[in-house]
Amino acid sequence: MNILVTGGAGYIGSHTSKLLKKEGHNPIAFDNLSNGWAEWVKFGPFVFGDIRNEKALFNALSGFEVDAVIHFAAKAYVEESTRLPEEYFDNNVGGTVALLKAMKRAGTKYLVFSSSCATYGNARTPTIREDHPKEPTNPYGLSKWMCEQVISTVAPVAGIHYAALRYFNVIGNDPDGEIYEKHEPETHVLPNLMKAAHEGGVFRLFGTDHPTPDGTAVRDYVYVMDLALAHIRALNVISTRERLISNVGRGLGTSVRELLKTVEEAVGRRVNVQENPVRPGDPPELVADDTHLKTWFRHNFKTVAEVVRDLAEQQKLQPA
Ligand SMILES: NC(=O)c1ccc[n+]([C@@H]2O[C@H](COP(=O)([O-])OP(=O)(O)OC[C@H]3O[C@@H](n4cnc5c(N)ncnc54)[C@H](O)[C@@H]3O)[C@@H](O)[C@H]2O)c1
Repeated sequence: MNILVTGGAGYIGSHTSKLLKKEGHNPIAFDNLSNGWAEWVKFGPFVFGDIRNEKALFNALSGFEVDAVIHFAAKAYVEESTRLPEEYFDNNVGGTVALLKAMKRAGTKYLVFSSSCATYGNARTPTIREDHPKEPTNPYGLSKWMCEQVISTVAPVAGIHYAALRYFNVIGNDPDGEIYEKHEPETHVLPNLMKAAHEGGVFRLFGTDHPTPDGTAVRDYVYVMDLALAHIRALNVISTRERLISNVGRGLGTSVRELLKTVEEAVGRRVNVQENPVRPGDPPELVADDTHLKTWFRHNFKTVAEVVRDLAEQQKLQPA
């Protein structure tokens, strides 16, 4: 299939493009490089463009005879969204509306949307099911929930089958080291921990008084290549079903202190930790209920320890 990958120059978009190519598809990256890297678009054609530009999207969809869209492009910094909420609604929601209009006009029938566990807000239950109330605690999560609502309203009218995948926290790199996680600035916990362990710098731990067993935030970490495969399986599912709404998480929580210990063991070095207050909009605990996921995606996920061990091996090959 010809698959338009919006945000294809970003972290998850480039990893998914690599797997799409490996499975015989043609991934076409559509990205404005606001937070992506042109050198990561190496698995198919590149269209430089903004998802708020409906005409540019329509030209890409029709020009490449696109069969399906995987829509990763978004602004995705929780803390930034609390300072610039209008930019998040403009980019994430406005971009999704433009994409749906372009798909309707071009007659593109399949869409997989990157949603997030940030749509749920503070967990009311130990693990979060898809029907958990949507009470986002930050504008980023609200923008993702608004996108889902827009898609669920427009898709049936436009004849689009869609999947909304609510990912939990994504970690890890391409095993071949061709592409890797790189955000500018990097706010994600694991790359920052690995960097501090490798270079001997300070790791800033945000939040030590959360209502969790060790006081640090608990998250459900998913390996990026497992997540990439979930997208390809989701495309198969929506070929015969109008919609699929599902968490993508392992159903297992890891606290920041547990992650820290795993990194120290894998790297064989203590990390210099600086404790900081909780970041605005950061819920204490987000762990998926994976019951629904398992009905359509039976998969042996990589564990956090395995991902960290692989990252430590890759780092050994790089100068500090
Ligand atoms: N990383 C995670 O843990 C995580 C968790 C849940 C959901 N998500 C979602 O997954 C998606 C990908 O996340 P990521 O970590 O790869 O982020 P990323 O920032 O690495 O990638 C996003 C890409 O979208 C592009 N982009 C942003 N706005 C654009 C626009 N207006 N037009 C064209 N391109 C635009 C950026 O340049 C970037 O390449 C996002 O939608 C994010 O909300 C990520």
